[in-house]
Amino acid sequence: MSPVPAWSESRTAVVTGGGSGIGRAISLRLAAEGAAVAVWDLDADSARATAAAIEDAGGGAIGLGVDVADRPRVDEAVAEVRAQLGPATILVNNAGISPFERFLSISRESLVRVLAVNLVGTFDCCQAVAPDMIDARWGRIVNISSSSAQVGNALQVHYAASKAGVIGLTRSLARELGPKGITVNTIPPSFVDTPTLRGSAEKGFLGPGAEEHVKTTPVRRMGQPEDIASACAYLARDEAGFITGQVVGVNGGRTIC
Ligand SMILES: NC(=O)c1ccc[n+]([C@@H]2O[C@H](COP(=O)([O-])OP(=O)(O)OC[C@H]3O[C@@H](n4cnc5c(N)ncnc54)[C@H](O)[C@@H]3O)[C@@H](O)[C@H]2O)c1
Repeated sequence: MSPVPAWSESRTAVVTGGGSGIGRAISLRLAAEGAAVAVWDLDADSARATAAAIEDAGGGAIGLGVDVADRPRVDEAVAEVRAQLGPATILVNNAGISPFERFLSISRESLVRVLAVNLVGTFDCCQAVAPDMIDARWGRIVNISSSSAQVGNALQVHYAASKAGVIGLTRSLARELGPKGITVNTIPPSFVDTPTLRGSAEKGFLGPGAEEHVKTTPVRRMGQPEDIASACAYLARDEAGFITGQVVGVNGGRTIC
């Protein structure tokens, strides 16, 4: 028996925030499944480094500096991807910022930036890439939200609100784009070992620390970026075409709802 291929034809994926952590793991995994991957990141060097790692492993990739909160740059980057790798029909909205700030200290600037990157950025990337998916009558969108949108998180009111918006966006877009062959799902991670999570832990924002969190996680370990990447890769496959509008928790059982 031969393995089931991910796709019946060649596919191009865009992964935002692909220079680090979860986005890097998703980029590498989609490339390993056979997709050409356009790695976007605010930090262009890190995007290029992920793309280089994919090419070193024999895959096809480009790395671009893209701020997802900059709509003209997003539109420009979609055109660059189309020209270099072909139309993108897989989009993973992973770029995000997650500051910890007391509610009464959250400035208008911080609120607006968090919403601009996490929510409006996700909206804009979907709107910019969707026409190529509609033309292809096939598409896969996976939005990385957060368990904080499901259960809340102190010091992250703006962040949790932005990620809750991503869940509503996902459910609505799934209804609208489903008839065009496009699925839209969201993965809300919890407690995944990435540079951002480690930075937050070092600053004392994770309360009792990693060991205590692990003790209260049913599977008794932290999440790894690859845990999110494998779920994301599954949702991007041809065979996941009957799954849309879903909130797919990948959290070791920390959030069961
Ligand atoms: N790590 C966790 O435990 C966890 C939990 C819940 C949700 N998430 C979400 O997962 C996603 C990835 O998180 P991570 O932990 O891998 O973080 P990370 O900081 O390691 O990676 C995020 C990447 O996004 C990029 N980025 C930031 N702003 C951007 C912008 N405006 N445009 C383009 N790129 C931008 C960063 O440069 C970075 O490379 C985020 O959306 C985050 O909110 C993570």
